[in-house]
This record gives sequence, C-alpha cells and structure tokens, in this order.
Amino acid sequence: MSKNNNNFYKSWFDTPYYHILYKNRDYKEAEMFTKELMEFIKLPLNSKVLDLACGMGRHSINLNKMGYNVTGVDLSVKSIKNASKYESENLKFKIHDMRKPLGQKFDLVVNLFTSFGYFDDFKDNLKTLDSIKSSLKKNGLAVIDFLNIKYLKNNLIHKNTEEIDGIKFHLNRSIKNGFLTKKISFKHELNEYNFEEKVRSLDLYDFKSMFKQSNIKILHIFGDYKLTSFDENKSKRLIFILK
Ligand SMILES: C[S@@+](CC[C@H](N)C(=O)[O-])C[C@H]1O[C@@H](n2cnc3c(N)ncnc32)[C@H](O)[C@@H]1O
Repeated sequence: MSKNNNNFYKSWFDTPYYHILYKNRDYKEAEMFTKELMEFIKLPLNSKVLDLACGMGRHSINLNKMGYNVTGVDLSVKSIKNASKYESENLKFKIHDMRKPLGQKFDLVVNLFTSFGYFDDFKDNLKTLDSIKSSLKKNGLAVIDFLNIKYLKNNLIHKNTEEIDGIKFHLNRSIKNGFLTKKISFKHELNEYNFEEKVRSLDLYDFKSMFKQSNIKILHIFGDYKLTSFDENKSKRLIFILK
C-alpha cells in the first residue's frame, strides 16, 4: 500500500503505524520542557493556553497539571480521541486545523516539537501564523519549537531501521528541494506500506522573514529544551518566544 504524498499530514498522522513508530515519544522530556518554559514565561496560574498541533496531548496534559487552563487541538482524529481520555474541566481537546483561527483568545499559544511547516503551499505557513496571532489576547505570547535545520543537515542520519512492536520501520531521510523528508517503509501482516513525512526545511532566517510579514515580534530564541541560547551550529532546536 502506498499513500499519496500530497497532504500526507492528513493521512500518515492518523494511521495506527504513526502512533506505533512514535509510541516512545518522550513524556519526561515534555514534562521537563513545559516546566522550564513556564518558569521562564511566568504565566499566572489559570491562564488560558492553546496547544496547537497537540498530538496525543503530552504537553497539554503537563501544562494542565501545572495549573493552566489548556485547550489542545490537532488535525489527527486518532490523536485527539486518545488525548480526550485525559479531559477535565480545565483540559479540553478538539479536532482542528491549525491554519484556521479557533475563534477563542488565549494568554499563550504553543506549537511544539516540529509541528510547523508541513504544507506544500508556503502561504499555509503564514495562515498558521495568522491563526496564532488571532488566537492571542492583547499581550499574549506564542512559542514555536522547530528543529534547527543547520544542525540537522550536518548530523543527518540518512538511513536506519527501528523495530517497534515487531514491525521493522525502515527510515530514509533527506533534505532537498526545501523540505526535510523522512520516507517510512515497512511490512505488516503481508502488506507493504510506504509513507512519507515532509517538513519544510525552515531556518532562522526563513522564520525571521515570516514573522516580519506577519508582524510578529521575536522576544527570545533558545536552542534546546533547557532553554540554552540558540547557536546555529550547535543547537538541536530552534525555539522562539514571540509576541
Ligand atoms: C510532530 S507531531 C507533534 C505533536 C505534539 N506537539 C507532540 O509534541 O507530541 C505534529 C502534529 O501536527 C499535527 N498536524 C499536522 N498538520 C496539522 C494541521 N494542519 N492542523 C493541526 N494539526 C496538524 C499532526 O497530526 C501531529 O500530531
């Protein structure tokens, strides 16, 4: 079975295989990062936080545990169904496309763990920034946590195989034509599957230019989840605190 690559984020992220491949995604890391982030931002308790492209809600759940009123949204029906098991009065999940405004205002909007830049049409990135802006209260803040493409280019593992739940996922990565592409192929129950994850290879300067167009101000740039200053050559992450 081969999946159409256009709008891959609508299909791949919703397959059971996406959830198997990333089942070991780090909940401890999410907890540590949200703690570090909120200590830095010093957002008053009970403030409203939007986790845009929340996946299965690992950051939303932690932010809520810390005392915030959190809404997590994602396009993946399966992820939201899973996250919804943790819903409470101050923790809600919803299926929503991040390119569209949610129609509610928040004190903080976070977009974490490379949840930006999936779209073939570059204008969709600007639409996402507009939707972030329109979801912010006056003086609200936004956080975008992306990968540092320069570091990744110099340290790219082109091929490897990961065996999870008895499935051998063959991963093939490349950076070309403005995208970081991960081809994922595997066999399961006699069927062959091929998927592709694609994220635009945006660097610091691409983001700066988009923020300028969208009239978004950069307050801080960090390079990892401990909030160390960003160094283009050494940092694994590119984390913006925005206003
Ligand atoms: C790399 S995952 C990160 C998920 C989550 N932030 C985390 O750290 O676990 C990217 C997420 O973006 C979501 N996504 C992709 N396109 C989207 C869109 N247009 N609107 C909302 N979510 C989207 C995917 O379904 C996926 O859950």
